[in-house]
Parts: sequence; C-alpha cells; structure tokens
Amino acid sequence: MRVLTGIQASGKLHIGNYFGAMKPMVELQEENELFTFIANYHSLTTSKDADTLRQYTIDAAVDYLSVGIDPNKTTFWVQSHVPEVLELYWILSKFTPMGLLERAHSYKDKVAKGISANHALFSYPVLMAADILMLDTEIVPVGKDQIQHVEMTRDIATKFNNEYGEIFVLPEHKVAEEVATIPGIDGQKMSKSYDNAIDLFMDEKPLQKRCNKIISSSTPLGEPLEWEDDNIYALAALFLDDAQKQELQARYKSGKEGYGHFKKYLKELIWEELGEAREKREYYLSHMDEVNDILAMGAKKASKIASRKMQDVRVAIGLN
Ligand code: ADP
Ligand code: TRP
Repeated sequence: MRVLTGIQASGKLHIGNYFGAMKPMVELQEENELFTFIANYHSLTTSKDADTLRQYTIDAAVDYLSVGIDPNKTTFWVQSHVPEVLELYWILSKFTPMGLLERAHSYKDKVAKGISANHALFSYPVLMAADILMLDTEIVPVGKDQIQHVEMTRDIATKFNNEYGEIFVLPEHKVAEEVATIPGIDGQKMSKSYDNAIDLFMDEKPLQKRCNKIISSSTPLGEPLEWEDDNIYALAALFLDDAQKQELQARYKSGKEGYGHFKKYLKELIWEELGEAREKREYYLSHMDEVNDILAMGAKKASKIASRKMQDVRVAIGLN
C-alpha cells in the first residue's frame, strides 16, 4: 500500500509525540511503501519567523531519522523541495467549493483560538489534498482531528475526476491505532503547549529532574501505593510488557518503595529506550550533510512521481 504522512514541525518533540506519532510511523515503513515529508509550507501558516521555521524543519528531520525513519525504506523529504505541489494546489482550488472549506473544523478551531485568519490558513486543506493526490496515495494515517481533511481530499478528487477523467486515486484515512492519551507531568494530556511535557532528547540530569516533577499522591513512604491512577506508573507502563507491568504493580503494592524510586526507574526506562536514537541523533547532528543528502534523495524520488502526475493533470485540464 502507498502510505503518506505529513509531519508538522513545531519544536521539540516529547514522549507523547514519540508514542502517539513517531513510533507508529516508523512501524508503518516495514510493510508499506511509506512517503513522509515535513510539511513546512503548512507550518508557514503559523510560523513567526524565518529562523524558527528553518530550525524546526531540520530538527524534525534529525529527530525522525534518529527514532528510526529508514531512508532506504521510506521516501523522506521537505515539502517545499517538491514545488509541484503548489501547482497542483492552485489547480485543485478550482475544484474546491467555498462551502467545503468554510465547514473545516480545524480552520474554525484555529480562528476560535485567536489565530488571525488568512488565506493560507483557510486553504490549508487544499494544499493537504495536493500532497496526498500528487503521489497517488492510498492510505493516510491521521489523528482524529485530520480525518475531515482526508474526506475533503476525496471530495476534491471526485469532483476533478467527474469533470476531467479518472486522474486521481481516492485516498482512505486510517486512524492510527488508538494510542491512549499520554499524560504529562501534571496528569493532563502531555503537550508542548501545557508546559507539562517530558522532552524526548534531554540530558540525563535534566531528565531526572523533569521526572521528579511528576505529580503523584502524598502517600508516605512505607505504605502500599496505588498504581492505578498514578502518572509515573502510566508513563512507565508505555515501556513495559505485561509481565514487567505486573512486576511494577507488585512493587507499588509492597509498600517498600516510594514515588522517588519509581521516578528514578522511569528515568532509566526513558533513557534506555532512547539510547540508540540518541546515538543516531548525535551522529546526524555532526553529519548534517548526510541529513541533507537523505532529504534531497527523497525530494528527487517524490518529484519524479509528482512530475509524471502533473503532466497527466495538465493535459487533462488543457494546460498542455
Ligand atoms: P502538542 O500537543 O505537543 O502540540 P502535536 O499536536 O504537535 O503535539 O502532536 C503531534 C503528534 O503527536 C500528533 O500525531 C499527536 O496525536 C501526537 N501526540 C501529541 N501529544 C500526545 C499525547 N499526549 N498522547 C498521545 N499522542 C500525542
Ligand atoms: N495537517 C497535518 C497535521 O497537522 C500535516 C499534513 C500536511 C499532512 N499534509 C499532509 C498529513 C498530508 C497527512 C497527509 O498533522
């Protein structure tokens, strides 16, 4: 299956991103033809300055490669390096009724949050449709908030196909396996906007400090602890198989250890899980030319498919 995902680069990644988005994506590449790009044209809609956008783009590339995007298996590029997408975006705009865009939840939510509306924000779903249709994508794995955008893509493609012939493949969305919402150090959903995240790549000491800030109940040392609603347990469980979870539950119930011990244990789990990724990250950070080569190779591959598609589109509508 041809699977396409876009990554919105928006700063440091955290444990919630890792389990909720990165790991599932890395697993997809084993059995599919995976296309993954960093959606920097999309990020432009909310970007504040040039340096930040540039930095976020390269950080995302390094981080995703470090956690396991394999450039030999996956086509990985930066959206703006394949500019065909903008031509298709304009053409698709003609097949996008205003009413369709006006109904977009994501646009309405962003405006409600106070982001001032501009045309790019409004037409964001058309660019996303161009990303998807340009590469004959069959499956788009998305979070719930993006399902509507894939449905809009199907509407736009259907309108085009009905008027000008069967050019586009209709994509299906696939809601990523329900990954439970990962809690932050305060027990709310972990999010970079709530200042409750544990960042993915921290040095060991700051990581321990961050883990020490996890809010837990105030049961005194020596008494059995409840694991059921404990944030440290919830985070640690992400790293454990069933037998290991039971072992940890037994340690909670024994009353011999306090939350401090479990915070140390959690730090160890995070540190160990990311050991290989950390090494790769060190490597890529000191070999940025390799990262750029990987992205250039990905852009070339995506561009080859896109330019063939664009040729068919241009002929179909009379531009060629
Ligand atoms: P943030 O809330 O920190 O801004 P994003 O909205 O940029 O995170 O999320 C990027 C990806 O990571 C999305 O696919 C999202 O579903 C996933 N993700 C983010 N936070 C969590 C979380 N706490 N639990 C599970 N998945 C998450
Ligand atoms: N809008 C997506 C998000 O915010 C990112 C994205 C852009 C995307 N283009 C895409 C995702 C195409 C899948 C397919 O997460």
